Amino acid sequence: MRNNRKKFLQQLGAGLFVAGLPGIASAGNFLESTIDVNDFENGGAADDEKYWKHIAHKYYTVSKDYINLENGYYGIQPKPVLQTFQKNIALANSEGARFARKVYPELSSSIKKELAAFLQVSAEEIIITRNATEALNIAIQGYPFKQGDEVLMCQLDYFSMIETFRMLEKKGRIKVNAFDMPLLPASEDEIVEQYRQEITDKTKVILLTHVSNINGLIVPVAKIAAMAKQRGIDTITDSAHALGQLPFSLPALGSDFVGMNLHKWIGNPIGAGVLYIKKERIKEVNVLFGDVNTAEDNISKLAHFGTTPFAVVMTIPISLAFHKQMGVERISQRLHYLKSIWINELEKQDAVEIVTPKNISCAIASFRIKDKKVAEVADYLFKQHSILTVNRALGKDGCIRVTPSVYTGADDVKKFVTAVKSYINV
Ligand SMILES: Cc1ncc(COP(=O)(O)O)c(C=O)c1O
Repeated sequence: MRNNRKKFLQQLGAGLFVAGLPGIASAGNFLESTIDVNDFENGGAADDEKYWKHIAHKYYTVSKDYINLENGYYGIQPKPVLQTFQKNIALANSEGARFARKVYPELSSSIKKELAAFLQVSAEEIIITRNATEALNIAIQGYPFKQGDEVLMCQLDYFSMIETFRMLEKKGRIKVNAFDMPLLPASEDEIVEQYRQEITDKTKVILLTHVSNINGLIVPVAKIAAMAKQRGIDTITDSAHALGQLPFSLPALGSDFVGMNLHKWIGNPIGAGVLYIKKERIKEVNVLFGDVNTAEDNISKLAHFGTTPFAVVMTIPISLAFHKQMGVERISQRLHYLKSIWINELEKQDAVEIVTPKNISCAIASFRIKDKKVAEVADYLFKQHSILTVNRALGKDGCIRVTPSVYTGADDVKKFVTAVKSYINV
């Protein structure tokens, strides 16, 4: 246990310890008083309410004015992350340009290495972006399409990536083929088969949204990427909602282009994303932000950004360390459990249509109520019961997305169930 504690604190300090800047160097001591590694050593079964209440109380400050079941937007930072972030903001502010010029370059490069290790890839295969949209735009707009190439996507993909591909189509660079994924596929193989059937002999890229922001469907990226690769087709994968919510190995996905963010399920402050490109593919990718001096096979050619949010990037090590302590398996199982509580209850209601397969999803799932407008249902839940969900576009009826987080109690989810039932019965 002692060794574990030491290791944990070392991890927290990594990337933050900078000679000559005592404010950063003391971050480890500061954290020692706020994180108890014992909390993460044992326990944490998905249905252990006592455990999760303890974690929620100790590590999360959330508004008590409403029940937040819209954690799909962005994640609440755990207290030690928030406190470190606040210190980092103060430090970058008080230090000014000396910090940016003399310290930050080396610091950010060590943070990048730490992030790459977390993702199990080489630091030469990632860049830190401001969000997943930026990461994926760099990949999509930089992809070496040739005249006549086609891109395959479905209605459950994220609208920003769809728009980026549609923009390329409008410019005459590609043709987009979009299909409707069944909302309740029975198995992963059925999902793979859907993509396989839609492939044409001109398909060059498949857009994969690892976890749909609309209904939470988890797409079996590795299986689809393998099937596509056999046919000479690339996958560009949007793992914005997968990283931190689901256990997966980035290299094992077999997708050569993957965009993610750290401000959803990793719990970093808002403003950090990651683009991964497999080493041997980097040279093919065209730069979006002008850069003529960096080598073609150096991923830094894609990261010619202006001034970046220092404090956000500096907080990445503590976010990763906290997330690792909690453990993605434990997080994932808890989220799946919370989702199952409400689906198990509401699927018994004739008026409710669940539009997410319970066992091919994790935290996020969606529903609608027959003959009711989704916006009105979401509005009712918020105004009458102080429960925040969000309505999403999906076909002609739309859906209401429900996303608990690790600090959500089963009692909150049950209140949501009661509220929906009361709406059906008015
Ligand atoms: C599936 C998916 N992809 C991409 C994004 C965009 O993420 P970001 O806000 O980090 O650009 C989101 C945001 O909700 C998302 O749900």
